[in-house]
Order: sequence, then C-alpha cells, then structure tokens
Amino acid sequence: MTQATTLIIGHTGKTGARVQAELEKQGIHTLGVSRSSKPHFDWNDPESWPQVLEGIESAYITFQPDLAVPRAESTIRAFVKMAREKGVKHLVMLSGRGEAGAQRAEQVLMKSGMTWNVVRASWFAQNFSEGFMIEGILNGHLALPAGPVPEPFIDIDDIAEVAVAALTRPELHNRIFEVSGPRAITFAEAVLSIAQALGREISYSPITIEAFLNEIRSLGEGEEMQWLMHELFTEVLDGRNTPVANGVQEALGRPATDFREYVRKTAASGVWDA
Ligand SMILES: NC(=O)c1ccc[n+]([C@@H]2O[C@H](COP(=O)([O-])OP(=O)(O)OC[C@H]3O[C@@H](n4cnc5c(N)ncnc54)[C@H](OP(=O)(O)O)[C@@H]3O)[C@@H](O)[C@H]2O)c1
Repeated sequence: MTQATTLIIGHTGKTGARVQAELEKQGIHTLGVSRSSKPHFDWNDPESWPQVLEGIESAYITFQPDLAVPRAESTIRAFVKMAREKGVKHLVMLSGRGEAGAQRAEQVLMKSGMTWNVVRASWFAQNFSEGFMIEGILNGHLALPAGPVPEPFIDIDDIAEVAVAALTRPELHNRIFEVSGPRAITFAEAVLSIAQALGREISYSPITIEAFLNEIRSLGEGEEMQWLMHELFTEVLDGRNTPVANGVQEALGRPATDFREYVRKTAASGVWDA
C-alpha cells in the first residue's frame, strides 16, 4: 500500500512552510509544491496541476496572489474539480476574513462533495516580519493607508497549528475556523509595540490610498496587485474585521497568541535587527 501524502501548495510560503514542517514532524508524508518546486505547480498554469495531484490524499491550499482577486473563484473551481477527479479526499484552504471574493471561493470547496476545511484568517502579524511590511520596520518608518481601524492580527504559528489540526483530526472536518488574534490593535499601536520591544524608534504614518497605489505602481506592481491592495486597505480594513474571532480556541482548545508574544519571539529571532 502506498503512503498517504498531504500536498502543500505554497510550501515555501509563510504558512505552507510551517504546516509542512509540523506534518513531517508528526510523521506524515508531504509533497510541497510551488512554481519553483520539482514537480512544479503554478496557479496560472492548469497544465501543471495534474502532475502534483497523483496519489494525494489531502491538501493544504494557499492561493496566489490572494483569494480576494476576482479570478480566484473560477481557478479554485477548476482546481477542486481536478483534485476530486484525481481521488483527493480532503482540502484545507487558507482564506481571508471579510473578503467577498474569498468567501465565494470557500463556497466552491464547501459544495464540492469532498471533505473540506476553511481557515479564514485576519491580517497576519508576520506581515510585519516576513511580509511586505518588514522593510518599513527595518527602515524605521512604516507608511500605509491604514488609519485608526483596529485589526486583531493573528500569529501565523496559530494558523499553521489550526491547519494541521484540521488535516489530522477527523472530528474537525467540514468546519470553518475563523481565526484572529485575541485583541484588535491599530497599525500605529502594532508598530509602537515592535519599537518598544526593539528599543529603537520606528514611526508609523497613515497615508492616502492614492499615495500608496502611486508608490507601488512606481515600484512596478501591475493592475491586479493595485486592485488587490485597494481592496484590502479600503474594503477589508473598514472595521468589519475588528471583532475578534474564536477559531483558534475552537480548533485547539487554547486561546490565540497575543501580538505582544509574537513581537517578543520575533524580536528574539533577530529578523528585525537593523
Ligand atoms: N497576509 C495576510 O495578512 C493574509 C491574511 C489572510 C489570508 N491571507 C491569504 O494567505 C494566502 C497566502 O498564504 P501565505 O502567506 O502562507 O503564502 P506566501 O507567503 O504568500 O507564499 C508564497 C508561496 O506561494 C508560492 N507561489 C507564489 N506564486 C505562486 C503561483 N502562481 N502558483 C503556485 N505557487 C505560488 C511561492 O513559491 P514560488 O515563488 O516558488 O512559487 C511560496 O511557496 C493568500 O491566499 C492570502 O489570501 C493572507
């Protein structure tokens, strides 16, 4: 009998790497894929999909660039259909809170007839240390089109633990885990918390969405990324996601990690050392 394998799409990404490491630690066989893996997998090239789906029992799915983009729903529909035809039994998909497009893609999974889970996450705390916001932290000044709206940033170590629980514990199957941190803070408060832990000055300025889009356009970002950033900062960050969600407690039986703890361990890791 061949060993059951869990496919990790985006295995070098922020959550994919963590999910794969934890599954491997538990002795579960995995196949991590992305555009640079062998065999490779590209969301933009459906011909690359069948080769990674052979012999796969379950999959952890991170979509690129974001499930919020309008084409995500049809791409996820085509992928889910192919996965089902290839005999995959269980799909666990990372999604975003308050994103209309993401919720349409979730519906595809939930109506697929396969076993499913959705991990619907708030903004990642690790955007400050592994994502596009680290540069501002290292430069001592972060400027974003985000004002006084508080966001319950989630530690993605928690996301990975919830995803692994969903993949490995049958009693959690067919559920949405809406996950956030345990308290909502503004971007300015988040930056202040990081600055205090590092003992150096880091300022935060809210800027207009137009100024931000001009900046990313000048850095060469295309239409879709500009649309996505507009969507994330104006729609998703309008206060709809400020209430905290309970998914970490529901899946793991413990509270979500506080932003202060994320800051403490991240500062200790040295990634913010100037
Ligand atoms: N950041 C947030 O605050 C936030 C909040 C909620 C939800 N999310 C969701 O999180 C998901 C991203 O997950 P993540 O942050 O764990 O990933 P990530 O760090 O953005 O991961 C990038 C991974 O995806 C691969 N990749 C990039 N483009 C690809 C493509 N066209 N086809 C296949 N693989 C590709 C990369 O490898 P290669 O370069 O080798 O392809 C890498 O393995 C998105 O769907 C987003 O909606 C994010």
